[in-house]
Amino acid sequence: MPVTQRIESAVIAALQASQSGAAPEKLANSLSYACLPGGARIRPTILLSVAMACGDDAPPLTDAAAAALEFIHCASLVHDDLPCFDDADLRRGKSSVHKAFSEPLAVLTGDSLIILAFETLARAMPYGADRVAQLVLALANRSGMPNGICAGQGWESEPEIDLGAYHRSKTGALFIAATQMGAISAGHEPEPWYDLGALIGEAFQVADDLRDALLDADTLGKPAGQDDLHGRPNAVAQLGVKGAFTHLSDILGGAIASIPSCPGEAALAKIVSLQAERIMPAMPAKYKA
Ligand code: IPE
Ligand code: IPE
Ligand code: MG
Ligand code: MG
Repeated sequence: MPVTQRIESAVIAALQASQSGAAPEKLANSLSYACLPGGARIRPTILLSVAMACGDDAPPLTDAAAAALEFIHCASLVHDDLPCFDDADLRRGKSSVHKAFSEPLAVLTGDSLIILAFETLARAMPYGADRVAQLVLALANRSGMPNGICAGQGWESEPEIDLGAYHRSKTGALFIAATQMGAISAGHEPEPWYDLGALIGEAFQVADDLRDALLDADTLGKPAGQDDLHGRPNAVAQLGVKGAFTHLSDILGGAIASIPSCPGEAALAKIVSLQAERIMPAMPAKYKA
């Protein structure tokens, strides 16, 4: 089955399990709204690609890990768009969850998706209890405090932001989770996969900063110019547009070079390059030369 189909099937199956019985209808609908249709699904794609490079000997476990990771990501977006964070009305080209449903339902949607992520992993126990325990730890580590998304969002409430720590935890964390959970799903050690995840995460953040500065809301499917608006430190403010493009290419080169040796190393390098092309915005003509 192609990777995209594996991801969609796993996400839909886990969502259905959370919506059965006497569930409140609006919250059940809002869980689907937050996850379907998805965005680029880049994190679960990387997770599955790493697992396949490592042999992918327990596919149902890998699929559960991919869905769990995507649920945490979707939850983080629902909470991030709330008025108490970025107050964003648009996400993936449609109204953000609190606009389409309500603020209480958006809080509950994010909470439910976080819980569903760990429940999805626990349900995969029959395919390898040891691996599930490692997956739970890896995902918790990159979601909460002190290394995960919560820490990343927490930096925005500090008087001074440590830019490196902010980006590593806000964005990098789930890419580290993606590579490490891919390895764990296939029975490999997670440590050698840290660098690849961290570097893809860093590249992704620079690409996101460039897109935020250069593209409009229609193209992005979410509000543009947010870094400037909220006065957040970002790669474009720090390095300029041209400098940020150069930095992005350098990091991507390092990411590909960092792939640990594994049976599917060459195929994985191709997939990482392809994903890199997808995230790289086109450089406007005035910055070329
Ligand atoms: C957006 O992530 C949030 C950031 C960390 C910058 P994505 O751009 O991967 O969002 P979707 O899932 O494709 O919408
Ligand atoms: C959102 O970060 C990603 C999270 C970790 C919650 P941003 O606020 O920078 O990303 P967008 O622009 O809303 O997608
Ligand atoms: Mg934000
Ligand atoms: Mg935001």
